[in-house]
Amino acid sequence: MKNFLITGGAGFIGSNFVHYMLAKYPAYKIVVYDKLTYAGRRENLENAEDSPHFAFVQGDICDEKTVAETIQQYNIDSIVNFAAETHVDRSIMNPVDAVQTNLNGAQTLLEAVRNLKLERFHQISTDEVYGAIPAPNRSREGDPFEPRSPYSASKAAAEHLVYSYFVTYNLPVTTTRGSNNIGPYHYPEKAVPLFTTNAMENQPLPIYGDGMQMRDWQYVIDHCEAIDLVLHKGKLGEAYNVGTGVETHNIDMAKKILDILGKPHSLLTYVPDRAGHDRRYALDVSKLRALGWKPSHTFDQALEKTVKWFVANEKWWRPIKSGEYLEYYKKQYVERR
Ligand code: NAD
Ligand code: DAU
Repeated sequence: MKNFLITGGAGFIGSNFVHYMLAKYPAYKIVVYDKLTYAGRRENLENAEDSPHFAFVQGDICDEKTVAETIQQYNIDSIVNFAAETHVDRSIMNPVDAVQTNLNGAQTLLEAVRNLKLERFHQISTDEVYGAIPAPNRSREGDPFEPRSPYSASKAAAEHLVYSYFVTYNLPVTTTRGSNNIGPYHYPEKAVPLFTTNAMENQPLPIYGDGMQMRDWQYVIDHCEAIDLVLHKGKLGEAYNVGTGVETHNIDMAKKILDILGKPHSLLTYVPDRAGHDRRYALDVSKLRALGWKPSHTFDQALEKTVKWFVANEKWWRPIKSGEYLEYYKKQYVERR
């Protein structure tokens, strides 16, 4: 493995992974393959573009021909698949796009790996495949999937397909199931960057339902380190949970953001709940820890670092909050009431 195709590499986690890999493995070639949907941004890769080991191809993972041509042109031997429609609320508004990219796109890539005999396919999956987990339970890798949104169902279906290619065709696959990431280049439709940027603009923080849902927020670079470890030391055909193993209520996360920014709690605004909102995700991460990984950031450290990045990088997020973003915001937060 030395020539990587990073699909969805212009998005949030993908771009952080590209920066991480270029810095850590100067001998690797990194080719980003990205459709540049509303969530994909070339500027996330600004510094990477200067590297002689980096290339960018604009393309859809559902486009079999361009996928194959790109693999051949750059002599790709491994794929890490970040490309997805990733926002649960958007998947509720438009489930068709989520299934098309997250499931059919994954299959197009698997077919390319099979036909062109690549060395590795790594699927970036999510803790949402397990569904809502009542306390005190934690999801382990062998647990059944009970996805409850179009987004998580499409990711779970893709994972089933990945595993079927391992069993049926002996494809060299690995999978990671990450909890919620936070950090630089996080598109401000997701809760942490949305709350942070709204607070900076003295706008309300829209809390769904009672705000007592729980998520395990991890720093994005910790997640990237875990993916790197599984790529190099993971067992073929296996999936690995990735998270801190510590959950926080949404309302407490929102209050902490306001406290870091020195903004009043009166900005917290309760709004109608997300349909089918999963109350809690919680991972058992012992399998990955046994491989030698542990996160470098606690939730508080990750949140503070993230909020400070948004304070220092207004020029990145301000232009995003216009045009299509405002149309989506109106549909999701004004018309849904
Ligand atoms: P993101 O929405 O920020 O980026 C997704 C990227 O995929 C964008 O650059 C977009 O242009 C690209 N893309 C979308 N459809 C495409 C297509 N058909 N062909 C090619 N490119 C396409 O997403 P993210 O938050 O960085 O998530 C990356 C991956 O990690 C996803 O697979 C997601 O399911 C998974 N994941 C995310 C989180 C999280 O907290 N964000 C947690 C666990 C797992
Ligand atoms: O768990 C991993 C998943 O984390 C990833 O697979 C997804 O791609 C990623 O989007 C994320 O999904 P969530 O739905 O957990 O993230 P989101 O930031 O959208 O929401 C986090 C929590 O905050 C969730 O309980 C819903 C709530 N929320 C979200 C928004 C956008 C609000 O209360 N208000 C909001 O406006």
